[in-house]
Amino acid sequence: MKLLIKLGGTLLDEPASCGAIAAQLRDLVRRHPQTIVVHGGGRQMTRFLADRGVESRFQNGLRVSTPEVMDAVLKVFAGTVNKELVSVLISAGLRAVGLSGIDGALAQAEPLSPELGAVGRIVRTDPSVLIALIGAGFLPVVACVAGDAKGAVYNVNADQMAVACAAGFSVERLLFLTDVDGVRDAAGSVIPMLTAEAARSLIASGVATGGMLAKLESARAALEQGVDEVVIAPGSLPRVLEMLVAGEPIGTRFVLKGDGR
Ligand SMILES: Nc1ncnc2c1ncn2[C@@H]1O[C@H](COP(=O)(O)OP(=O)(O)O)[C@@H](O)[C@H]1O
Ligand SMILES: [Mg+2]
Repeated sequence: MKLLIKLGGTLLDEPASCGAIAAQLRDLVRRHPQTIVVHGGGRQMTRFLADRGVESRFQNGLRVSTPEVMDAVLKVFAGTVNKELVSVLISAGLRAVGLSGIDGALAQAEPLSPELGAVGRIVRTDPSVLIALIGAGFLPVVACVAGDAKGAVYNVNADQMAVACAAGFSVERLLFLTDVDGVRDAAGSVIPMLTAEAARSLIASGVATGGMLAKLESARAALEQGVDEVVIAPGSLPRVLEMLVAGEPIGTRFVLKGDGR
């Protein structure tokens, strides 16, 4: 089975949860060597910019990416966050290799909208580098930065990067590990199973906002692009990966239609 694990920025920001995830990934990759990791780093980015007196601005959960922000995108996502994660994974016994969507032309993008600056929408993926790394026994760890054929660099929401890599590498399961127990309804309860239509109404009614809005749209896109199973689950739960792979009902499972598929 091919798997993609997307790790949210908050999980990686806490050494304890990062170490726990690394140990779980070691066991997972032993059983499922065709695994890819994609990570965000939003919290680290906001801190990096704030330390330099730059305020973070978002539209629909996406970070407005001025030239100043783009310099930080490379430094923080493809630099500090990626390399610190790879180091932790290596120390856990994994043969992790860090890369971004720029490398090997893995993910190429175009501007999403003029107001967002260099935020990219991925338009092309070339999974060759993932296939080569996995074929040689490495675990690819992908930072959410994309390129294009002309040498531009784009900031891509990490959930969208996860979907592009999942579709490009034809993974069966896409697991979003995040900092909440799952997708919450208006009353605050976790929704165990969510259809694309129900997700749309959570967004329309303002119940799912910000990063979760972006995640729900990514989850739908993943199913539409042929990923069999998409789950949004709490990364801090002990043994969460093992339980998800065993099919236990944790977090929110995303389905295209309400027929249990
Ligand atoms: N309906 C909702 N259910 C759960 N979380 C939500 C909801 N609406 C907004 N959120 C927010 O979305 C966040 C998760 O998205 P994000 O911060 O981008 O995490 P990640 O780093 O995993 O991508 C949660 O921490 C929560 O604050
Ligand atoms: Mg996010």
